[in-house]
Parts: sequence; structure tokens; C-alpha cells
Amino acid sequence: MALLEVREVTKKFGQLVANDRISFSVEEGSIVGLIGPNGAGKTTLFNCISGLFKPEGGQVVFDGKDITGEPPYRIARMGAVRTFQVVRPLKDMSVLENVLVGAFLRTSDRGEALTRAEECLRLCNLTAYRDRMAGDLPIGGKKRLEMARALATGPRLLMLDEVMAGLNTTELKAALDVILRLRDSGITLMVVEHVMEGIMPIADKVVVLDGGTKIAEDIPARIVRDERVIEAYLGAKYGRRLKNGTQGGSRD
Ligand SMILES: Nc1ncnc2c1ncn2[C@@H]1O[C@H](COP(=O)(O)OP(=O)(O)OP(=O)(O)O)[C@@H](O)[C@H]1O
Ligand SMILES: [Mg+2]
Repeated sequence: MALLEVREVTKKFGQLVANDRISFSVEEGSIVGLIGPNGAGKTTLFNCISGLFKPEGGQVVFDGKDITGEPPYRIARMGAVRTFQVVRPLKDMSVLENVLVGAFLRTSDRGEALTRAEECLRLCNLTAYRDRMAGDLPIGGKKRLEMARALATGPRLLMLDEVMAGLNTTELKAALDVILRLRDSGITLMVVEHVMEGIMPIADKVVVLDGGTKIAEDIPARIVRDERVIEAYLGAKYGRRLKNGTQGGSRD
């Protein structure tokens, strides 16, 4: 059975349809990539799944239960947890304390929370930074901290929003290793990436959004050859280049 089923999910902002009847499923134990150019609707879909937005149409079914419109804390407690694209560590707290915040969603026992937090630090290659102030971490470390904090809540489904964006080659490899380690520990993952190269080597399946609609869903080897996908990316790239040459700054 699929752990997550997204059925015809629609989210609008005024006239703009950010998610237009999006459907796909995520099998337990798999890694599903969610890709697409800027403004495709990836983060919006995470918001709909994790309860931050209530979709106007469709259903989100997690572990066989309809969670559409449930508040985020309840969805997180059920085991569907996401990270945020713009990392927001509690800067004046240590790395360990940041992760403890996540652990306290599951337990009120300090010793138990500590054990859990230490384990999450280890899984995310952060043990060496344990007592550093979170605000002092390099960007790769901050992204892994965001993952560790989400992980500490004990998710069954972990939704990562661009945790690989802006990383150098070494940091990217570290992030990929962490994702594979989490998958091997039994966690199902949905990974949003703007850059295709990040997700292709590790995904079991890739869902592609463009302009609010799903344009493809397939194994990575077929996605990279899919004409609609190539066009969506090339179009976006040329569009950006043109914009940078003329107006600059604005997105989409
Ligand atoms: N809270 C909001 N209010 C109004 N419009 C929004 C809101 N959030 C997103 N949008 C719009 O919805 C569309 C989809 O945005 P979304 O952030 O989901 O895209 P994305 O695929 O995550 O893009 P990126 O790769 O830049 O992160 C965009 O046109 C965006 O401007
Ligand atoms: Mg986004």
C-alpha cells in the first residue's frame, strides 16, 4: 500500500492555480523526487500535504487516512514531516538544542529526547557540531540541521524542500549520503529539488511539475529523456537568461 496518496489536489491563490489537480502516490520505503522549474508549485504541494495550506480540491491520504485540511501539528504527529526551503534554525541555540526541539514532539522525557537527538545528529553527520551555535554553521550544515530537527520528530514520511540547493560538491555528496541513510533506516522520503542532478541518482520515481500541473511521473532514466520535461527546463532557463539580460531580479 502507498504511504502517501495525493489525489487531484488543487490549490489556488486568487486566479493563479499553483497546484492543478495533482495526483501521485509514494510507496513506503521509497524516495520520490519532486522537481520542476521556479514557481512550478513544489513548495505549495508540500504545504498542502503538511497542512500549512488547505487545498480547494482533492485529497491527501496518509497511511490510509484522509488528512486533508488537518492542522500541521497533527499531521506531523501522524508521521508526515517537512523541512522548509528557507532554513530557519534557532540561531542562538546550540545545534543539539535545535534538534531537541524536534525530539520533544515525541516525548516529554528529557533523557529520551536527548538520546533521540544525539542519534539524529549522528545520522545527519552533525555530531562534530553538537555544541556550536546553530547560526554559526555553514550553509550545508544548516541544511543538515533542518533535516536532523525534522528527523527527531520521528517521521515515517520526510519531505525535504531543496535541502541540496546552494551546496558545493562535497556538501552535496554529504546530503545525498544522509538521504540514503535515512531511507535505509526505513523512512520514506519526498525530495523537492530545483536542480535535476541532485535527485536523479537516488530517486525511485520522479514527479515533475510545471506551472502548477504534473507533466511527468516516471523512473529517473525516463524522466531525463522526457520531451515535456526537457522543454520545461530549457524554457525556464532561456526565460531566466532573457530576464537577467533585460529586467533581472524577478522570478518565473
Ligand atoms: N502564499 C502565496 N501567496 C500567493 N502566491 C503564492 C504563495 N505561495 C506561492 N505562490 C505562487 O504559487 C506558485 C507556485 O509557487 P511555489 O513556491 O509552490 O513554487 P516552487 O515550485 O516551490 O518554486 P521554487 O523552485 O522557486 O521554490 C508561484 O507562482 C508562486 O508565486
Ligand atoms: Mg519552492
